Amino acid sequence: MAKLGVEDLDMAGKNVLIRVDFNVTQDKEGKITDDTRIKASVQTIKYCVDKGAKVILMSHLGRPEGKVVESMRLTPVAKRLGELLGKKIAKTEDCVGPDAEKAVSAMKNGDVLLLENLRFHPEEENNAEDFSKKLAKLGDLYVNDAFGTAHRAHSSTVGVARLLPSAAGFLMKKEIEVLGKILEEPDKPFAAVLGGAKVSTKIGVIKNLLPRVSFLLIGGAMAYTFLKAIGEEVGNSKIEEDKLGLARDLILGDSESKIHLPIDHVVAKEIREGAQMEETGGRAIQNGWIGVDIGPKTVAEYRQVISKSKTVFWNGPMGIFEVDAFAKGTVEIAKAMAESGAVTVIGGGDSVSAAAKAGVSDKITHISTGGGASLELLEGITLPGIAALSEKK
Ligand code: 3PG
Repeated sequence: MAKLGVEDLDMAGKNVLIRVDFNVTQDKEGKITDDTRIKASVQTIKYCVDKGAKVILMSHLGRPEGKVVESMRLTPVAKRLGELLGKKIAKTEDCVGPDAEKAVSAMKNGDVLLLENLRFHPEEENNAEDFSKKLAKLGDLYVNDAFGTAHRAHSSTVGVARLLPSAAGFLMKKEIEVLGKILEEPDKPFAAVLGGAKVSTKIGVIKNLLPRVSFLLIGGAMAYTFLKAIGEEVGNSKIEEDKLGLARDLILGDSESKIHLPIDHVVAKEIREGAQMEETGGRAIQNGWIGVDIGPKTVAEYRQVISKSKTVFWNGPMGIFEVDAFAKGTVEIAKAMAESGAVTVIGGGDSVSAAAKAGVSDKITHISTGGGASLELLEGITLPGIAALSEKK
């Protein structure tokens, strides 16, 4: 059944507790390096402000493991959000207890308050009932707009949702709609491009997507595990020995030959900028060399597949793209998606940074704010943060 949406709530004069995902990246000085998630929450926040609600925002930042960690305070986030909303955003020193309660009771209609990092309390991640009650005490209504955290069953994503009338925010609804369409009724041909370091983290999504896709293009370090599994030489490339059997079974079970593996590589002696590197020209990697990117022949083949597809989903870089010299394959995939004319969806994490590095972010149909969450959704898993929201009558 469909979930209630934020526009289904009657919120004038009410305290609306919104779970957002402000888990943004910061540099060593605490400067926010990517504010996409803050920007993505603005639509829901503005809507609630315009409806005359008192808007109380709650989020985590990083993994402080239940302790106060000064560098993980939400102060820089409050400042950035204030710039985006054009108003001062007050922030509490604690997300529950007297400090938070006093700040909430001083609010006027249309005010926005940010609670301090939820994960300073260990109870948040344990979804402890008492802690959920303390959070719920601050609001009359609950909205979840934190798609990036919807795969976590925490107090702020599940506990509170069960204690208050609850609804999905605009960002949450958009993510469910776009990723749901990818899963249920993608325009075909449908290509999925999967990369990244480990087969183990992508097994679920490969198994669930394989029957639905027309092509599955594999890159990144996990490609070497697949190649080794079919008897190719992979030199000193990183592989997962304990996943060779699983990789072999997936290839053998792929009777329609949907899975494409790299046909050439960029290899290097070491993983660092300036290391000796070369192109292999073929599939085999000699001893002493490490695979660090897909090669030009693979780029051409993957580009061609992407250009004839109507839907393309991508998660995970094609190589070690943090090192500029090994980023070409990943950047080329981002460009191919941007030029394809297909419905293009990028599933969070490193691929989002890669699209930004390639300068094509604005040409991608949908860039998900959830890395782990989008993968779990595409694995076919019911996300607890979505399941907990109230149903439409
Ligand atoms: C993310 O960045 O993927 C989300 O904010 C969830 O963070 P977590 O993996 O620390 O739970």
